Amino acid sequence: MKYDFDRLHDRRGTASYKWDQLTTLFGGEDVLPLWVADMDFVTAKPIVDAMTERAQAGIYGYTIRTDEWIEAIQGWYRRRHNWDIAKESIVASPSVVTSLSLAVDLFSEPGAGVILQAPVYYPFYDVIRSNGRQVLKNALKISEATGLYEMDFESLEEHMRSGAKLLLLCNPHNPGGRVWTREELTKLAALAAQYDVTVVSDEIHGDLVFAPNAYTPYATVGEEAAATSLSLLAPTKTFNLPGIGSSFIVTNDPAKRAKLNTQMKKLSIHMQNHFAHFATIAAYNEGDEWLDQLLPYIKGNVDYAIAALRERAPMLKVMPPEGTYLLWVDARELGLNAKGMSQFMNAEAKVAFNEGSSYGDEGVGYVRINCACPRSILEEALRRFVGAVERKVAVK
Ligand SMILES: Cc1ncc(COP(=O)(O)O)c(C=O)c1O
Repeated sequence: MKYDFDRLHDRRGTASYKWDQLTTLFGGEDVLPLWVADMDFVTAKPIVDAMTERAQAGIYGYTIRTDEWIEAIQGWYRRRHNWDIAKESIVASPSVVTSLSLAVDLFSEPGAGVILQAPVYYPFYDVIRSNGRQVLKNALKISEATGLYEMDFESLEEHMRSGAKLLLLCNPHNPGGRVWTREELTKLAALAAQYDVTVVSDEIHGDLVFAPNAYTPYATVGEEAAATSLSLLAPTKTFNLPGIGSSFIVTNDPAKRAKLNTQMKKLSIHMQNHFAHFATIAAYNEGDEWLDQLLPYIKGNVDYAIAALRERAPMLKVMPPEGTYLLWVDARELGLNAKGMSQFMNAEAKVAFNEGSSYGDEGVGYVRINCACPRSILEEALRRFVGAVERKVAVK
């Protein structure tokens, strides 16, 4: 079937985090929201059908993880990413951020440093700090050759040499949309092996990659990585299901699995959400067609946005993403601090993109634009933003 991603859906009044907080967060109902990472698209029909069937049944009892659930996950990763996941390696989790927090709690010592690569998705900082650990920041570098982020392996090794034992990896990376190559991940894995560092790899954006770039599951780069790492996976970003929560951890280390399972039980988060269960099976068994149509649409949006910004606001520098639907824009030429940038977006341009400093100090002066919306919304948002930039530059 042919999906229509141009179709507009009114999400107001649906308790939408993105659309129903416009006045509270951004000061007015006339602000156009392209911030938090969900999509303004209806998901794949097989998922809607599966959930409709369950909703109509009217009984929403306690739910187990069936073999069908396991096999759907295995089938997807084998088929799309050439990764064979063993049945016993899968541990269900309510959400990826829950898994990040559990990993910090269980696999680092109180007060210890945990490495992240900044700028990065803000819950990476939160889970380290809220668990009483220290953020060890390994800032990403911007390559002179490509204009894209690259890992600073020298300073990474310094952190590891000084005793850090846990690293939170974002693969692909949010923000910036880098899809780490096998070579980069292999280099990282060699350092992790040398210094006995556990890598926790958040791969929620792994399905959202533009060819010829290819997502490399960290656990597939070598024996040590496969044996010791945790991969945090989910169908929720890929298929626009974050509101129902569905996720799982893959780790081949039985001791880590035992610790995770014990903690999940302790917190009583080990039961499966009824709808998430069936949505996940439908997504992974029957979602290919939708995703194969979504990706070119998003790439088209991203290319459109890059071209529009380059043409009309050349002082802004866009980092072309290799994956994710999130566009990272260097707007430092506007000379705004974090507060000034929010004010400029919300009050002057009447748009809500993510303000860059929430990803770390490296993000001050940047904005992140969520391009997973109908093209007409993106066009309108860019028109507003570029118009405000032009007005500001004219006044300067
Ligand atoms: C890198 C990354 N990890 C995790 C999440 C959220 O995952 P979850 O909703 O499963 O906690 C997001 C959402 O934007 C993300 O970008």
